Order: sequence, then structure tokens, then C-alpha cells
Amino acid sequence: MDLAGKKIVLGLTGGVACYKVAELTRLMTGAGATVQVVMTEAATQFITPVTMQALSGRTVYVNQWDSRVANNMAHIDLTRDADAIVIAPCSTDFLSKLAHGACDDLLSTLCVARPSHVRLFAAPAMNVEMWQNPATQRNARQVEQDGIALLGPAAGAQACGETGMGRMLEPAELLEELVCAFADKPLAGKKILITAGPTFEPIDPVRGITNLSSGKMGYAIARAARHAGATVTLVSGPVALPAPAGVHRINVQTAQQMHDAVMSVVKGQEVFIAVAAVADWRVANASTQKLKKQHGRSVPQLEFEQNPDILATVAALPEAPYCVGFAAESENLIMHGQAKRERKAVPLLVGNLGPQTFGQDTNELVLFDASGHVTLPAGDKQALAQELIVEIGRRLAAAAPAVASIPKPAKEHGKRTA
Ligand code: C5P
Repeated sequence: MDLAGKKIVLGLTGGVACYKVAELTRLMTGAGATVQVVMTEAATQFITPVTMQALSGRTVYVNQWDSRVANNMAHIDLTRDADAIVIAPCSTDFLSKLAHGACDDLLSTLCVARPSHVRLFAAPAMNVEMWQNPATQRNARQVEQDGIALLGPAAGAQACGETGMGRMLEPAELLEELVCAFADKPLAGKKILITAGPTFEPIDPVRGITNLSSGKMGYAIARAARHAGATVTLVSGPVALPAPAGVHRINVQTAQQMHDAVMSVVKGQEVFIAVAAVADWRVANASTQKLKKQHGRSVPQLEFEQNPDILATVAALPEAPYCVGFAAESENLIMHGQAKRERKAVPLLVGNLGPQTFGQDTNELVLFDASGHVTLPAGDKQALAQELIVEIGRRLAAAAPAVASIPKPAKEHGKRTA
């Protein structure tokens, strides 16, 4: 769970976006966090403490003078063992209070009284004119200078009927930003290029050849790399997945387009992870018009030509990034995996145990390097992506040590063969 063990004080201030924070509470507790809700009086006009108590499973505090707190110092007690305070929604007024260190209610007082290890995040939510007001902009700059992280706002339709900057980020987006903020940063400052998904090779304007890759593994790796602190560019074939937050995605269709997109951005990248299931061949005699069925006549004859091998091309560049290949084999993965790694001349190749993992949320990976191979236990693709990213970070830091030096997984189901 992405926020396992984290203790978060969730502060609600007055705004219509309070309704979204009910969902945010569910997402945060679902991700393993303990959520302690504190509300301003104004927030209670938009959502009741009863709802927030039911969703967080904890007593909700509003009043500075709450006799339920034994020493009557809720503003101190509530943050001493917290990891973070998240103000969502953060109203114009509350942003102003944060900027000026005001302490005229429980929530503003506990923000000022927080110890330095308690991180403070604020998700502004306000009308576009209120957000653009010079005083608000000044306050936003000030709180950022003071080390408070602003999450959003986003642009779009607003509850007041106007449109523009000031919408609170969606609950899932807020959760993603918090998960990213708490993640370890083994790839801080690194530039990583990833390919993902299938390619689509046209036969005519309405038909084509593709494969069953869903893009899930490549997208999970892009997300994990961003969480680990990398600047991530994702070159993606056609998939039904949203771009991971904070990742620059370039959409392509064909293998040639994927090759061209990769070559246009590869300079300066420190790691290249080729997860895409790239078509080996394209149709050489693709038709510019839709092919017609001709009754009683012969079926179309397709001719194929070789696509460029993107991974091998990048690996052969004079200043090649650290290259990681992927291989999905339906049989003899161990034999084919090592041979493929050598053929592509890459230091690390990751094998999937069969194309049957295409489209699934789980996978099992085998890592091949010059010293042998090691199996990463079957698991959720996101968890495996994170393990792989940690492993790549370790190799970059230690100038590619041998697979045999990977510490044994705690669960003891990793199989090691040199
Ligand atoms: O050659 P094969 O497709 O089995 O190799 C798989 C690996 O090579 C994957 O990392 C895939 O992304 C990459 N590849 C590529 N360009 C191709 C074919 C495969 O980058 N044309």
C-alpha cells in the first residue's frame, strides 16, 4: 500500500470542493494512511463532521477549545506524531492565513505549531478571479517559499459556473501527488526514457496488425520512475491508459514512429527502458485506400519488411544510456532471455513469463545480466515496477554490479541462478 503507516492530518476549509474530500479520505485510508480530520467552521457548512468521522474512522476536530482533548491543546497534540498535514480544499482565506502565519482557529494554529518534520501540503480550490487576484498569487508564492507544497490548482469548469484556474485537483490526482512526495528518490535528477504498449502497423486506412500488449507494465514503470525522482518521457503505442501524472507522454502508432520519437529525445537520457511490444515487421505494400473484398477473386497478398530495432539502435549509440530490454517469451524464457540480452547488447534484460501476462495486473519477472539471472517474485505490476526501478537505481549507483548481489526478497520466493 502506497501510504502504509503514514499519519496524515487532513484539514478541510470552506469550499464546495469539500465534497471531493470525502472520496480523498477513502483513497488515503485505502492506501494505508491514518487520516485525522480537522475542519474549519466554514468547512462544516459544506460537509458535516459526521460524514468525515465515518469515513476517517476517527473523531473530527473543529474547535480550538475542545474539552475532549485532555490537555486542551489540540493544536499541539494532533501533529506531534503526524507525517504530514494536507489542507484540501485550501480556500483563498486559508492560503492567506498560511502566508501570514495567522492562528485564529484550530486548523490555522496547528499549521503554525507543526514541528519541522511534519510536511505541509495545500490543494487550493477557489474561483478563477480569486486565484488570479494579485494578493492570492503573492500568498501562493510566499507559502511555496516557506516550504509548503501547493498541489494544483487545475483549470476547468468551476462550481460557480465560470471556467479557469482554481479547480481543486481530483482526489485520485491528490493521492498520486502524496504518494510521489513520500516515495524514496533513488533516481533523483535522472532522465529516463521508456517505450510502452503495442505498435499498430497499417494494412490499409482501416485495418492493421497489432498485438495484445496493454501497456500496463510500461506505464507502471514510468509511474515508479517518476515516484523515484526521475524526469520521465514515455513513448507510447496505442493503449487505453491515461498518461501517468507528471510524465511527458509522446503518442505513436507504428514501430517506425516509435523509433523516430525515441531518436528525437534520446540525447541526454541516462536510462532507456524498452518495454514496448514492437512489431518486428510492417506491411510493405500497405494500401492507401481501403482494400475491397473481391468475390471469387484471390485474397490480398501482404508483403512484409523489417522494422528498425529501437532497443538495439539505442544501445549502439556512441553515448548510449543505460539500456534495459524486455522480452515476452511463450517458452524457454531462461534460454531465450539470456540470448536476447546478448544479441541486443544490453546490460539488463527483463523477461516476462509468457505473453499470458499481457493485459493482466500481475506479472513475474526474470532479470538477466552478464552474470546470470534472478526471478522477481510474481506480484502486482506496480510493485514489480518499483522493485525494478530500485534495482536500476542500484546498478546506476554501483556501476552495474552483478545480479548475484541483489539482496534476497524478504518473502523468500526469489530463485537465484548464476
Ligand atoms: O526482438 P524482441 O522483440 O524479442 O525484443 C524485445 C525487446 O526489444 C523489447 O525490449 C522491445 O521493446 C525491444 N524492441 C525494439 N524494437 C523492435 C523490436 C523490439 O526496441 N523493433
